Amino acid sequence: MPEPLTFPADFLWGAATSAYQIEGAVREDGRTPSIWDTFSHTPGKTAGGDTGDVAVEHYHRYRDDVALMADLGLNAYRFSVSWSRVQPTGRGPAVQRGLDFYRRLVDELLAKGIKPALTLYHWDLPQDLEDAGGWPARETAYRFAEYAGFVAEALGDRVESWITLNEPWCSAFLGYGSGVHAPGRTDPAAALQAAHHLNLAHGLGTQALRAALPARARVAVSLNSSVVRAVSDSPADQDARRRIDNLANGVFHGPMLHGAYPADLLDDTARITDWSFVQDGDLAAAHQPLDALGLNYYTPALVSAAQNDPDSPRADGHGASDHSPWPAADDVAFHQTPGDRTEMGWTIDPTGLHDLIMRYTREAPGLPLYITENGAAYDDKPDADGRVHDPERIAYLHGHLAAVRRAITDGADVRGYYLWSLMDNFEWSYGYSKRFGAVYVDYETQARVPKSSAHWYAGVAAAGELPEKSVVG
Ligand code: FCB
Repeated sequence: MPEPLTFPADFLWGAATSAYQIEGAVREDGRTPSIWDTFSHTPGKTAGGDTGDVAVEHYHRYRDDVALMADLGLNAYRFSVSWSRVQPTGRGPAVQRGLDFYRRLVDELLAKGIKPALTLYHWDLPQDLEDAGGWPARETAYRFAEYAGFVAEALGDRVESWITLNEPWCSAFLGYGSGVHAPGRTDPAAALQAAHHLNLAHGLGTQALRAALPARARVAVSLNSSVVRAVSDSPADQDARRRIDNLANGVFHGPMLHGAYPADLLDDTARITDWSFVQDGDLAAAHQPLDALGLNYYTPALVSAAQNDPDSPRADGHGASDHSPWPAADDVAFHQTPGDRTEMGWTIDPTGLHDLIMRYTREAPGLPLYITENGAAYDDKPDADGRVHDPERIAYLHGHLAAVRRAITDGADVRGYYLWSLMDNFEWSYGYSKRFGAVYVDYETQARVPKSSAHWYAGVAAAGELPEKSVVG
């Protein structure tokens, strides 16, 4: 019997982006630098010295971009707000011109019947807050809660779906551990401290949102919870798996979903920190009731108990570094999962997405789940007719959507899927060299060309159903 590939009638078919990756206009309307402006302008930090200065000019082209989404029949769009536009130094009153941009964007979406999902923080901390200590400093969590309140007051009448943080693992462990992301620090103890303050920020931010938002609003967080597998069942390899799972997942879902850090995480990291930065009441604050959980998934991790293999791309997430993003885990090796890979070098394995959804179905019973990011980079190029054919991306999306559908059959409450990404954009330390978009962007002219995957995805969204074959003619 073929599996049923029809999705629930009210399923959200979306696409996702983030502010620094698409907006450009970095010096307009009162915006001041974020850590990503500083980092990308630091020689050697991004491929080709690429920056988000111009990006894909979404700040000025947002109307056309929303029209494109409407043409593709999307009914949801996940974007992030640039803190540096709304509260440039991370302190003081909100800047109306900054908020007005997001108001216009949301109005445009609503007018086209597209549900906005607003992420407050997708990695772009105001530089002034980094200068004052960044995420390893407790004060940053309080600053975030204030900023969350400003955005909620301005947009709470029109946005129902709110996400506090995007992938706090990357903010903490790539930003302060391996240093491949802004602000580029390489201090494992600071990375754990950053993780704690991100948990606190999520909790305080959620409280600030609840205080300002109408009761119908829904609050969530998007985690890049890793699917961590071991190369064998040996106790040593299983222990390596357990440790990385705690550093990837438990460090965030522990406080956020259960109000506690896993005890073994504290033991495993005791030689680099005593966790004395955790104050009374912090874990209760981080543990707020949520309305949904966002899961971002690209590829699983495969580990063993041995020295790390520096060639393994996922060991360092979004880029290579001499410093590990995994505190106190130098004796864990990361391996390439067998199988075909995307342009990022990430192995294509939809079973990981199914495993992830089922894990959080158990970890957070009753909490609706959204896949808030999933997608693939390929070296897309227009053909002689100017069309962009990306059959590999269609196959990737097909496989992963089928995994989502299978999880629903298995009892998971998945309510929506946001493809990463709507359009090609600034891929962090890889600059513009990696194209994740369903829509191709010509960076010279800023022309947008929907790839064949965009047309395919539009068809799936319109039918609410996955075709049996992944390839369109
Ligand atoms: C995720 C990020 C997103 C993009 C994709 C490829 O980790 O949230 O901004 O970089 O990876």
